[in-house]
Amino acid sequence: MQTHSEGPVAISRSRLAGKHVLITGATGGIGRALVAAFSDAQARTITGVVSKGDARFAEGIVRPETLDITDEDAVAAAAGRLGPDVDILINNAGVNGNARFVGTEEDVARHEMEVNYFGTLRMIRAFVPFMQRRGSGTIVNIMSIGSHMCYPTMGSYCASKAALHALTQALRAEISRFGIKIVGVFPPAVDTQMTSHLSIPKIPPAQVAAEVVTGILEGRDDIFVGEASKLYDEFRRDPKLVEQKLAARIA
Ligand SMILES: NC(=O)c1ccc[n+]([C@@H]2O[C@H](COP(=O)([O-])OP(=O)(O)OC[C@H]3O[C@@H](n4cnc5c(N)ncnc54)[C@H](OP(=O)(O)O)[C@@H]3O)[C@@H](O)[C@H]2O)c1
Repeated sequence: MQTHSEGPVAISRSRLAGKHVLITGATGGIGRALVAAFSDAQARTITGVVSKGDARFAEGIVRPETLDITDEDAVAAAAGRLGPDVDILINNAGVNGNARFVGTEEDVARHEMEVNYFGTLRMIRAFVPFMQRRGSGTIVNIMSIGSHMCYPTMGSYCASKAALHALTQALRAEISRFGIKIVGVFPPAVDTQMTSHLSIPKIPPAQVAAEVVTGILEGRDDIFVGEASKLYDEFRRDPKLVEQKLAARIA
């Protein structure tokens, strides 16, 4: 049994206990890890959003919710029902077409933008008014280190995550004065379905979830997960060198 003398885990339990957390993409690799981490931190309720069909969760506190975040009417209806109660909105749903710009159907880039950028924007616009009225709330946008530097084998995905980063920064300026905290999360490659075709080093989804919980508790604006912190430092030191290194990979 945890007690308050047992360090960070116990502290996280006390600070997140009683919160209602809504997580989109809850059955994906990072989504399931987020569900487990917030359940461990004793959230009161977790709404686990799936885009289609039924979902099962091992954690008893999870209420599954079927919602396609590209469907404006469905998002508005879900916010009407859940908005008054949601303390922490985690925008984790995302798609990656692993597409180059030339020689790929434009629909791939459009779909990435529709889910990663417009879908997230739609969720935010629907849920923020409830947080504003309450004068509290936390919005967590799961982005990517690709929001900062473009990986050319997935250029249109990075463009959608860069757009989401701009949204996140502007949103912080717009609404933090209403007591709403905006958190940006920048993971490196993570071992999920999304990267199953890639033979590169990947971190486990549980590491992302643990760093998200810790980052929220520490009151951070930006969470660079794992080696993303080192990659971002390198990028800030010499952005052109990083661009050239990433360009060399495309060959
Ligand atoms: N894996 C990585 O290397 C990595 C790195 C950095 C950032 N990220 C980001 O982390 C987030 C989670 O990715 P993941 O790796 O866990 O991928 P994943 O396992 O493929 O999960 C993606 C989730 O997004 C949901 N989703 C997709 N379109 C949706 C829509 N229109 N409406 C509602 N839900 C939708 C999917 O739900 P359905 O299956 O029900 O459609 C799925 O649960 C994404 O935003 C991704 O861009 C991933």
